[in-house]
Amino acid sequence: MPQCHICSNTITPFMTFGQMPIANGFLSEKNTATEYFFELEVAHCPKCNAVQLPHQPEKEKMFHTEYPFFSGTSKSMQTHFADFADSVNTEYLAKLHDPFVIEIGCNDGILIKNFLNLGYRHLGIDPSANVADVARSKGVDVITSFFDITEAARIIKSHGQADLFLAANVMCHLSNINSVVEGIQRLLKPTGILVFEEPYLGEVIETTAYDQLYDEHVFLFSAHSVKFLFEQFEMELIDIAPQPTHGGSMRYTVAHKGQHSVTQTVTQQLQKETLLGLCEPSTYKKFKESCEKSRDQLVSLLESIAKRGETVAGYAATSKSTTVLNYCGIGSSLVSYICDTTPIKHSRLSPGMHIPVRPDHEFHDDYPDYALLFAYNHKNEIFQKEKAFSKQGGRWILYVPEVITL
Ligand code: TMP
Ligand code: ZN
Repeated sequence: MPQCHICSNTITPFMTFGQMPIANGFLSEKNTATEYFFELEVAHCPKCNAVQLPHQPEKEKMFHTEYPFFSGTSKSMQTHFADFADSVNTEYLAKLHDPFVIEIGCNDGILIKNFLNLGYRHLGIDPSANVADVARSKGVDVITSFFDITEAARIIKSHGQADLFLAANVMCHLSNINSVVEGIQRLLKPTGILVFEEPYLGEVIETTAYDQLYDEHVFLFSAHSVKFLFEQFEMELIDIAPQPTHGGSMRYTVAHKGQHSVTQTVTQQLQKETLLGLCEPSTYKKFKESCEKSRDQLVSLLESIAKRGETVAGYAATSKSTTVLNYCGIGSSLVSYICDTTPIKHSRLSPGMHIPVRPDHEFHDDYPDYALLFAYNHKNEIFQKEKAFSKQGGRWILYVPEVITL
């Protein structure tokens, strides 16, 4: 039986999405025969309440020199991270002398570059060499490595302890979370704080956003599981704040126990989660049923469009789209191609279902009848950019929170 990555309790999967490829494993034709698949099962731990993948592919299969996800591709994310840096700076750093900021999973530097611009001492850590190089090209100091307790000891020796430790959409990637948290606990000064944000479990459950479950997302966190996780290391959750990113995220602020006051937001969120049923196994049974219903509705919509001889293109080859396409069994007979702005994904095939990925000018040159929006988290930005598509009669298909056409 698998064990919880946080508390070692025995866990039983409440559902499986079936065989899945690496979500960001966009591949060329010649590599399709050797493509890697694993069983995407999901479990809820009744002890610490973390929702998690009991089995995750080896991390080197996901994060490497050809990692195709660059955080900076969206304008709204640039603004979000600039505001994130600004608020943390105003609240915690501005009053300190010569603060030191660390970010794990800094990707292309979208968040940490804001602290570089403030003239602060900083250090980014990212295991994917290609994205780390982009951060370096912006002047960010980056170590190419996976963060854990050993790396933490090395950084303490070379740089000293940090005032602020950051992670955005990273903590949920780390199955060795206890080693990471122990590393953070040692690296943070006694008065230091950790601020991290992640797609939020409550939002996933409420909106049936099952596409947040893929190889990289080994956890879907909540206030309950984050509280439990850090209490194991004499740390405490001191603030929690919802964020609009990734379709609904949560920002958690954590400190050494007793060093900072705990805001009311923590108790309020814990109460909300109890009411929402996030600690109840029955909630996850219902979630599984909602996923199956959503899958059946999307497939039958796409089949009826195909029967009418109309065309559908996928819009944005997101990591999330890999779960949707493979779980629903949607191939190129239903979605002829996926347009995306990321050059490294062009001329490749989508993981598992092998739908061609194309530059977005192909979408503009010859509009399909329908666009299936995989980047619904960037809906406002994309609808604004693609007004002409709707104007000439193009329809959008969305599947979160419900399967609808617009
Ligand atoms: P994300 O949903 O994980 O942020 O992934 C964003 C993906 O969507 C990335 O591959 C870039 C792509 N994208 C577009 O193709 N067009 C757009 O307008 C936006 C905002 C994103
Ligand atoms: Zn647990």
